[in-house]
Amino acid sequence: MVEELDTPAYVINEKVLQTDMRLLRQIADQASCKLLYSPKASSLAPVLSTINEFVEGFACSSLFELRLVDESCGEACSRHLVSPLIDQNTLSEFGDRLNYVTFNSVSQWRRLRKRVSGSTSIGLRINPELSFIRDPRYDPCRENSKLGIPISRLSELMAEDRAFLRGVDGLHFHSNCESTDFASLLATARHIRDVIPEALKSISWINLGGGYLFQSIEESAEFFETVALFRDAFGLQVFIEPGAAAVRRCGTIVTTVHDIFEGEDCQIAVLDTSVNHMPEVLEFQFEPDVLGHVDDAVHCYVLAGCTCLAGDTFGQYSFDTALTIGSQVTFTNMGAYSASKAHRFNGVALPTLYRRGDTGALTKIWADRFDEFARNVGSSEVAPA
Ligand SMILES: Cc1ncc(COP(=O)(O)O)c(C=O)c1O
Repeated sequence: MVEELDTPAYVINEKVLQTDMRLLRQIADQASCKLLYSPKASSLAPVLSTINEFVEGFACSSLFELRLVDESCGEACSRHLVSPLIDQNTLSEFGDRLNYVTFNSVSQWRRLRKRVSGSTSIGLRINPELSFIRDPRYDPCRENSKLGIPISRLSELMAEDRAFLRGVDGLHFHSNCESTDFASLLATARHIRDVIPEALKSISWINLGGGYLFQSIEESAEFFETVALFRDAFGLQVFIEPGAAAVRRCGTIVTTVHDIFEGEDCQIAVLDTSVNHMPEVLEFQFEPDVLGHVDDAVHCYVLAGCTCLAGDTFGQYSFDTALTIGSQVTFTNMGAYSASKAHRFNGVALPTLYRRGDTGALTKIWADRFDEFARNVGSSEVAPA
């Protein structure tokens, strides 16, 4: 079926987003922990406004994310900031509207703590020094990590000065990615408890970060045990800040086939999208899910992006029905880290943004335009369209 929409299109399915947020809310409530959303996974405005109904707050990484969240979330929502780069201007601009700030290093904390409003709760990011991710590009616990204070170092600092954490209300860690079980989370919690028990006794909250695909995990006992370990033994308020778990399933990218020709062992179908609309395809070298793909079906294609990069391809896919020029190809499970990382390499416009409401009706939210592209590359001659 060919849907009436401008492609490439980025479609947010409201029903799916609500279902996935409901599940996260339910798990957080059952565990008595606070649920934040990490907008780095998707900061699209319709996504933020739906998620706002389910969460206690947002875990931002920058001034722009904070400003965006500020526009869509009300007074009751709490604004958190954690980043290797926090500057004075951000702290001044947000003042006491920044509810939590988590410093990434001892030096960042020492330099900026006096700039933090008296009503903002201060945390430190720790590196649990327990790796679960094979690819060091995604491992916050890698050697010479830039993310957080190694807990062995924090333990030494506390041994030298028992009051080292004076003025610090909480600790934060984020050490996993796409995990489909909670065993690593529980192992990390026990490791932290064993290495820095004194630190846990001196704070009031802990943030467990993101990195777990809650929807794909059937057994949550280890998650509840992790929260209980911090809450019951140390009296801590526990936060989680998932990103991908909230939004992965709600986003699809709909594209149109613009050319088909013979390759060596199957045909090449050129689409009006590119890996730059879903950069993790190239980064992780994975083949994204495509609607209608059937293993070993008769019509086989390399689905290719439309830029000059030879490696701008999505992989080999097969379908029961042949593709023709004008066919639509839909990539599913594209809601996380696609729109937020997308760019316009080769001048290829970003996908048009649509929201599919509860009834299934589509609303166009935003369409890319030449003048936005031109402005983005510094052209001052372009009049707004
Ligand atoms: C500090 C922090 N919190 C939360 C997240 C969200 O992780 P995910 O999208 O894997 O749930 C990330 C992702 O990089 C992160 O760096």
